[in-house]
Amino acid sequence: MSSRRSEVPRFGHGSRVPGWDDAADLRKDPAVVPDAATTPVPADLRAEIESHMAKYPDHRSASIPALAAAQRHHGWCSPEAIEQVACVMALTPGYLFSVASFYDMLETHPVGRHSIFVCTNISCSLCGADDLLAAIVDAADGDPDLNIRSFECLGACDIAPMASVDGVYVGPVALDEVGTLVAQIKAGEAPLPARQLGGRAVAEPLAAIPKGPTTYGGQMPEEAPGPPAPVEQQSPIPLQDADQSEEGAT
Ligand code: FES
Repeated sequence: MSSRRSEVPRFGHGSRVPGWDDAADLRKDPAVVPDAATTPVPADLRAEIESHMAKYPDHRSASIPALAAAQRHHGWCSPEAIEQVACVMALTPGYLFSVASFYDMLETHPVGRHSIFVCTNISCSLCGADDLLAAIVDAADGDPDLNIRSFECLGACDIAPMASVDGVYVGPVALDEVGTLVAQIKAGEAPLPARQLGGRAVAEPLAAIPKGPTTYGGQMPEEAPGPPAPVEQQSPIPLQDADQSEEGAT
C-alpha cells in the first residue's frame, strides 16, 4: 500500500486544520440588535432558541446551541441565520459572529450537507489518519454535498483512525472500507454500522448518569426541551436494522 501523506494539505501555520484566518471587517458600522418587526424568524427555530435560552441564568450562555440550531435550519451560520438568532436573543450579530467564527463546528461559509471530520491528531495520525483523509477525499470525487475536513482530537482515540460522520463516530476505519463509507454517506445510510462507537460494548453496562446533586452543583429542576447536542449523535438508522441491510447487500 502506498503512502499518500504528502498529499494532505498543511496550512500556513503547519497544521492540517484550517484555523482562524478570517479577519474582522473594521470598516463596517457597529452592529445593532435586529428589529423584531423587520426580522422574520421561522417559528420552529425561534422555539428552539428560546428553549435553549431558558436553560441558563445568562441567556448569552445559549449562544452555541442557538447557533447550532440555526445552522441545522439554514445549513450554515449565514448572515441571515445569525440575524435571526440575534433577533431572538436580543444580541448583536457581531457578538454571535465572534462565537460562530471561533468554534469550528459552526460554519461561517456554505458547506456540503454531510460533515465528515477525519481526526488527524496524534493517535489517529500514528494509525494512518493522513492516508484515511486522502482516501476519503479521493472517494468523494469533489462531491459538493460532502464537507470533508481534518479535525483535532475528537476524543475517541481508542478507535483510531476515526472520523465523525454527521456526528456519528466511526472507527477504526480501514482504507478498504472507505469506498463503502462514502457510498453509504451519499445514499443517506448509516455509516459503517459495525464500526460505530455507539454500537460498541461498554466496560460497565449498568453505569448511568448520576441522579441528584453532583460536584458540579445541584440538579436542574427540569430539563428544558430541545434536541441533543450536535456532537456524538446516534445514527438516525437503528444499528440492528442497519446491520441487517448491510448483510442483505453483501
Ligand atoms: S487523536 Fe484521533 S480521536 Fe484522539
